[in-house]
Parts: sequence; C-alpha cells; structure tokens
Amino acid sequence: MAPLSNLAVRDIETVIHPYTNLQRHREMGPLVLEEGRGVYVFDSDGKRYIEGLAGLWCTSLGYGNRELVEAATLQMQRLPYTHLFGHKSNDLAIELSEKLKELVPCEASKILFCSSGSEANDMQIKLTWYYNNALGRPEKKKIISRIKGYHGVTVASGSLTGLPTVHTDFDLPIKNILHTSCPHFYRFGAAGETEEQFSDRMARDLEEIILREGPDTVAAFIAEPVMGAGGVILPPKGYFEKIEKLLERYDIRFIADEVICGFGRTGNWFGTETFKLNPDSVSLAKAITSAYFPLGAISIEEDLYQAMLEQSKKIGTFGHGYTYTAHPVAAAVALKTIEIYERDRIVDHVRKVAPAFQARFAKLADHPLVGEVRGVGLIGAAEMVADKKTRRPFDPKHLVGFQFVQFAQKHGLICRMLGDAAALCPPLVIDEGEIDEMFDMYERALADTEAWVTKEGLRNP
Ligand SMILES: Cc1ncc(COP(=O)(O)O)c(C=O)c1O
Repeated sequence: MAPLSNLAVRDIETVIHPYTNLQRHREMGPLVLEEGRGVYVFDSDGKRYIEGLAGLWCTSLGYGNRELVEAATLQMQRLPYTHLFGHKSNDLAIELSEKLKELVPCEASKILFCSSGSEANDMQIKLTWYYNNALGRPEKKKIISRIKGYHGVTVASGSLTGLPTVHTDFDLPIKNILHTSCPHFYRFGAAGETEEQFSDRMARDLEEIILREGPDTVAAFIAEPVMGAGGVILPPKGYFEKIEKLLERYDIRFIADEVICGFGRTGNWFGTETFKLNPDSVSLAKAITSAYFPLGAISIEEDLYQAMLEQSKKIGTFGHGYTYTAHPVAAAVALKTIEIYERDRIVDHVRKVAPAFQARFAKLADHPLVGEVRGVGLIGAAEMVADKKTRRPFDPKHLVGFQFVQFAQKHGLICRMLGDAAALCPPLVIDEGEIDEMFDMYERALADTEAWVTKEGLRNP
C-alpha cells in the first residue's frame, strides 16, 4: 500500500467518515477529492474519475455548473439567511413552494422544508402521528417500511431504514416502526414462483402485518419507487398496485420516498410516475438542488393541512421547525436547478441516453460474476454472485464488493457496492460517450475482480 499523504494522515486523525469501516480507514486513508467538472471529479493528485454515482445519487447536473453557483452567490449577497418562524417568510420560499406544488406527482396543499432526506422522512413520521392525534385516533401510529428500504439515519428515519447496520447497537428501530418483506424477485422469489405471484406474496406479507397489529394501529406505509441504497431494486410486476389496494382498504397513508428517484432519475420527473403510484405525499431532497446546497421537502396533502390547522387552534402553534427551514440560498439553488431541468429538458435527455446506459448493463448479464442486472432510466446495478446457477452470494467476509470498488477506482471510476450490487447512478447530464467510457471502466474492474476471485479461490462455498 502506498504511504499515506499528509492530507490523509490529517484526515485520519480528525474526521469521522460515515458508512466507513473506521478501523480499515486508519490503514488505507481517504480518497480526497478536490475538484469537479461535468461528470468528472479530480483527486488531490489530479487523477480524474467519472462520478458513477453522482456523489450520493444527487449531483444530477454534474460538477462546476456556473448557473447554480451564481444563483447561490446572488442570494448570499441579497439575503444570506432568514427564517420562517413566527409568520416570517422569504420570497424564494414562496416561489419554490408554488413550483413544487405544481411539479409533485400527488395532490399537494402545502410544502414543508428541511435540509436533508433524513429530516424529510422524520417530518413524515411526526406529521403522521400529529395527524392521527388531531383526528382523535391516538392508536393509529405504526409506520411500515420495507426490509432493505433506505430512508435516512436519524433516530426516526433510521428506524424506517431496513438495513441491519443502521440499527445494530444504535438501539433502533424505535417503537411503532415495522418492516415488511423486501420485494426483490431475483433474491427472494421462490422456486417456480412467477413475478406476479411473488408480488401477491409480498402483498400478503404486508396484509399479515396489518392484521396482526390491527388496522386501527397502522398509520402509514413508506416506500422508494426504486429501492436505492438497498441495492437498486425495482418493484416486481403488479407490486405497487397490490400494495396500494391494501393501503386504501385499511386507510393507511402512503408516502413515496422520492429522495433518489425524484427530478428525472427514472426517465420521468418522479419515480411515482414511472411506476404509476398514487402516494398521499412525497419526500424530496438530493437532486432538488443538484446537491449544490442542502435541502429537503415534503408535500402536505389537504386533509393533513386541515388537521394541522386544527392542532394550531388547539395547541397555539405548529410546534416544529428548523433554523434552516426554507433557507433562502437553498431555495434559490433549487429554483435555478428546476429551471435548468425544464429549460434543458433533462427528462427528455435521460430518456434519450437511458437505452445506451441500460444496454451496457444488459450486456453484463453473461459475465461470470454477475447474477442479475437491473435498472431503469439512469440508475442500475449488477448483482455479484459466487455461483450464477444457485445465485449464491459471496461470503461477505471476503470483501469482494470492496475489492471491486478499489479496482474501479484504479480505472478512474467512482461507484458503490450496495450489499452485493455494484451500482451506477451518474449525473443526469452524462452523454453517450461518457456512458461508454464509464462502462469500459466498470468492465475492466469486473475483469480484475474475476481474476482476483479466481486466484484467491473465493467461489468455493
Ligand atoms: C431514498 C432515500 N431517502 C432518504 C435518504 C436520506 O437522505 P439524507 O442522506 O439526505 O439524509 C436517502 C439517502 O441516500 C435516500 O436514498
């Protein structure tokens, strides 16, 4: 291993890294990124990488976008900060709320802002509880999410997340948060079961939980249209249709977590449109500002708003708000981001280049390491297996995915392993030439991984 740079040593001694093996980090140090242009980022040695995951699924307009920088600069000069407490507002918060009400794929009466996806889902939980208290249904409080769903890391949104590492030893999940089955057909489909039958079974699992807990105690269901951090898992055929029937039958609020899918990723403005969902509310973050400034938001449906009004009459105030709720610089950047999406017809661009992106993924299906390829729009993944026939995954202790990411980095590609899935989710502005370049690197990393797995004999059970 190369000796650590001065920056790396300083990092190790001062910075805690999320989702990182902190022990291993002390030995290998960080990859320090210093600049970005278009779909490329550059490390502290000047080496160039394609940002294959758009940072964390978020830098949709790529790096170095002057218009976004200017929008932020202008607002910083004009009014760098104001808040919304106690009847104050700012012009851009109003303009952005109007714009989002028009865009979101559900009936939205109002918009409530925050600074991240975790906070957005936290607010969804709080408001679901608040709503049911307002309606005099204090028992209706349980919220169901899915195993492998990802909804954030705060105490409440981390509870929604269905990944063991987010819960273990953090004493999560909290009370009233439950998890239903993960609808990944390739991984969890039974022998001989069709995709449609699998969806029926997923719906039955959910109904069993609802009936076991009592429908009067179940308040909401939250789902990503495409499960992102759980491994880029697409809904199986008929899945959401069947789930939505149950939600309607048992009067359960449906929250679509559009934090990754929102703003063009799946080839429509929202994943909700791609998969024909009918949510009561959506959670937004990430691409809302192309990640140039932290911002999250949720839509508030009319009956929730009416309940909030009643609560204000009763309690005297809406007792929630962040210092940075509707931060004016965030609002300025979001408005400019959305203006660019519309002006540059970013959704059309995604639809134009997505077939090339998905075709390169599809070509990987025959690779000896790849069990399943999957994706939609400009998001996709290849699931690595030790045995293609039995679908047996590699033993996690061999760190095959970690090794793949290192090989990819060597070839100039930044991507992520999510469990056994090697994901790509590039900036939406990527062109076909860059898609080819990205997949050439990805294939080289797969070839290196295959050679290493064979040499180390890691296929043996
Ligand atoms: C679907 C989804 N929801 C919520 C979150 C949490 O967002 P944040 O990291 O901004 O708190 C994420 C983050 O990746 C996400 O993918």
